[in-house]
Amino acid sequence: MTDNQLLGLKPALGWNSWNTFTWDINEQLIRDVADRFVSEGYKDAGYEYIVIDDCWSLKERDEDGNLVPDPEKFPGGMRALADYIHDKGLKFGMYSCVGTHTCAGFPGSFEHEFQDAKLLAEWGVDFLKYDYCFKPRQVSGELLYKRMSLALKNCGRDILFSACNWGEDNVYQWIRESGAHMYRSTGDIQDSWESIKNLALSQLDKACYTGSFCHNDMDMLVVGMYGDSNDGFIGSTIGGCSDNEYKTHFSLWAMMGSPLMIGCDIRNANQVTKDILLNKELLNINQDVEGRGAFRIKPEPQWFHSDDVFMLVKVLADGDLAIGFFNLSDSQRELSLQFWDLGLSYASGHSLELYDCWAHEHIGQFKERYNPVVPARDCLVVRAKVVQ
Ligand code: GAL
Repeated sequence: MTDNQLLGLKPALGWNSWNTFTWDINEQLIRDVADRFVSEGYKDAGYEYIVIDDCWSLKERDEDGNLVPDPEKFPGGMRALADYIHDKGLKFGMYSCVGTHTCAGFPGSFEHEFQDAKLLAEWGVDFLKYDYCFKPRQVSGELLYKRMSLALKNCGRDILFSACNWGEDNVYQWIRESGAHMYRSTGDIQDSWESIKNLALSQLDKACYTGSFCHNDMDMLVVGMYGDSNDGFIGSTIGGCSDNEYKTHFSLWAMMGSPLMIGCDIRNANQVTKDILLNKELLNINQDVEGRGAFRIKPEPQWFHSDDVFMLVKVLADGDLAIGFFNLSDSQRELSLQFWDLGLSYASGHSLELYDCWAHEHIGQFKERYNPVVPARDCLVVRAKVVQ
């Protein structure tokens, strides 16, 4: 049915209401976010989807079995909100669930899949996040994702399908075939360094399960939240993360090909947050058209480093390499990269010209190896060009 054969080609870029606002959402907030997307440069940087997560509907369907937006939160209705977002050249996302109820207890789409897909299309929805709570145990999740995928592909509108089953049931083995364009591979992120680190480490060996048209979604970003969530589970009691930790979080998600869905309140974002979220070089790496996963290299000497110290290398379409030197440990480390390990032999006579994607400056030309010193919980991301 779809005209847009490129839907889901690249990881989605956008904003989602859940991390900061959870149940406390309304149409003015969503309009404000759309305004900020344009005025603060998010749209120009490539962010396009504005997604309302859970808690948008009434607790009951209407007499025709249709979902009903909460009239107190969304008095103008979803169609008007979609129009507002579309008028700004942006796209509109919503949320439902494979089960009988959403995780927060609102009606889910179980046995209403085709009806709900049609309604979403009528409202002008462009993106559906589809959660995993209250799933009847005897029905397979794989089947339910296939069902909604088919419903969306036949609803008359291009709707990006964002599966969210938290990495359960070996999802990476069957989700691409289901038709989903992205899939959550982990449990919910929290605004803490431990959470960021654990999610990233859990996906390092899954590089072959992400790519064009079905991206590994490592969960929405917590960059810029600083503990500011109305949900105690997401917000950290110690005030979120440091700026360097947010920078490392963004670098990991960007390098590993995750969709980048902003989770902070962009109406109040400070300059550091904007510099992280709007880093053009990192966004270009994430959005590279070949959509390759990043492979991991252990720094030399191998025996010296723990598993939380590693390099990630992503092969880019133009022949460059994106290389991330990640030190997730709690002490400063020297990370020695031997170019041999990424395919460049000394005998070739070639060197690498390195550009620092955070300092936005050339580092220089190196042959055989490069040994940066990286502070604790920090990273260096370079774009490397093969030169004579
Ligand atoms: C979780 C999901 C979160 C959020 C929440 C809403 O299952 O992982 O991202 O959508 O439900 O209730």
